[in-house]
Amino acid sequence: MTVSRRRFLCGAGSLIGAYALTDALRLASASTMPMAMPTRMAMPTLAAPKVPLLNPTSLTRFVDPLPVPPIARAAGKRSHPAYPGQMLPYYRMEMRAFNARLHRDLPPTTLWGYDGLSPGPTFETVRGEPLLVEWVNALPTRHFLPIDHNLHGAEASKPAVRAVTHVHGARVPAGSDGWPEDWYVSGHSALSHYPGAQDAATLWYHDHAMGITRLNMYAGLFGAFIVRDADEQALGLPSGDFDLPLILCDRLIAKDGQLYYPVSDDPSAPWVSECRGNAVLCNGKLFPYLEVEPRRYRLRLINVANTSFFDLSLSNGRPFQQIGSDQGLLTAPLERSRIELYPAERADVIVDFSGMDGQAIQLRQQSEAILEFRVRDRGRPDTSILPATLRPVPRIDPASAVRDRMLTLGEQDDAGGNPMMMLLGGKMWSDPITENPRQNSIETWSFVNITGDSHPIHLHLVRFQVIDRRPFDLFAWNAHRVVKYTGPAQPPPLHEAGWKDTVRADPGMVTRIAMRFEGEPGRYVWHCHYLEHEDNEMMRPYQLLPA
Ligand code: C2O
Ligand code: CU
Ligand code: CU
Repeated sequence: MTVSRRRFLCGAGSLIGAYALTDALRLASASTMPMAMPTRMAMPTLAAPKVPLLNPTSLTRFVDPLPVPPIARAAGKRSHPAYPGQMLPYYRMEMRAFNARLHRDLPPTTLWGYDGLSPGPTFETVRGEPLLVEWVNALPTRHFLPIDHNLHGAEASKPAVRAVTHVHGARVPAGSDGWPEDWYVSGHSALSHYPGAQDAATLWYHDHAMGITRLNMYAGLFGAFIVRDADEQALGLPSGDFDLPLILCDRLIAKDGQLYYPVSDDPSAPWVSECRGNAVLCNGKLFPYLEVEPRRYRLRLINVANTSFFDLSLSNGRPFQQIGSDQGLLTAPLERSRIELYPAERADVIVDFSGMDGQAIQLRQQSEAILEFRVRDRGRPDTSILPATLRPVPRIDPASAVRDRMLTLGEQDDAGGNPMMMLLGGKMWSDPITENPRQNSIETWSFVNITGDSHPIHLHLVRFQVIDRRPFDLFAWNAHRVVKYTGPAQPPPLHEAGWKDTVRADPGMVTRIAMRFEGEPGRYVWHCHYLEHEDNEMMRPYQLLPA
């Protein structure tokens, strides 16, 4: 196998200038010096951008209203062979290029989105009510972001622009899940059906095309997909205008307003192992504001960034009440002054603006204000409730698992110590399937992270529970391939004790999850949700075998 030399992104901080120092330091230390491993050569080989980049702190803050994506509307009703005798709502969602202003003072930016929007329209669905979506590729035939033809599935022989949509967190049959190799080109479409057999949760949809997912998503192909149910409805949480998605991602933007995606200094292998921006888009805007009434709101925070995590807080020091995580409600609200979200993770929070009449409160990412809430002097009466308990989350007993799979999260480096690809279980995408759980069985998966970085690991189809994280000896692993624990197992904090579909696996730790493989037999995927990793081998198929 020939693999061209791939370079690392460290040094991005100094090159781009406007990165937060802490990010640059984190990159430098986390990426080049994994704990208890020989020091790798640090080579700042990110290519200097050919275009001048915007320093977002130069923009006037809070001059644009926060966009709230419109609710997706069904185009009619249709039958489907999987639902005999039923007429299902039929949606048609077209992916296309468009221009939008990310900020009042920036020229329009070319983006790709669903229905000409990024984020695309929000799907509002109800548990037990299936729906059909035709995902239509109407994108241009040329890509505007740097494809790396060395990546599996993105060879020069493949069409540049390909797309296939996946609903992240949805329990769907394999044929509707958005298999990465089932991409199609402009002028084609795919019809997916979503049974909706799952609890209320904040899901989201996004592109999943093999080898270019990071670019298609960076271009803007994502949106929210909300599942509601009667149990949640009965709780009396804020609803209607007071319940909105807040979709967060970061970008690098050139002074001319166009998106900039970082590249390595090797033009024949532009892939970089991480992509961190310096400008945070809230529902597609930079530094927007939202007028709110002095009452409770429900915000569905979704991290759709390529690699960055968000560390969110309110400027007035008031806590959030977290009511949900990836796969829906927690057992009870949790008071949290900070919400940390890794890529693809969600947090449902209640923010109470009552008593703050006339004030301006900012949402912060670390110390940077990214969104301003302007509280009106008066509003409609608040009849919403924040109940003391939300929904039982019965614990899965790890002892009931029919099997535990030890899976490494690894990285393959070149002679100079630069990562060339990221691997799961030491295997590549095209290696034979090794994870083959049986339908309805319970398994535990233990992610042994032998890299120097955290990886947000996501399984399609299922919801899972985090059992624990436990430190292990990396030297012993490297020498003998055995897991030697060096400390006690740490149970997840309460905000990670609900149903999840993406979990942060920390370096030097074994992160253990448990799940019951409910769903239809077929072929699904699991992967790191750092999109740069996912596109470069950190994604594997799994086969759900019939019970
Ligand atoms: Cu967010 Cu494979 O998905
Ligand atoms: Cu997914
Ligand atoms: Cu990763």
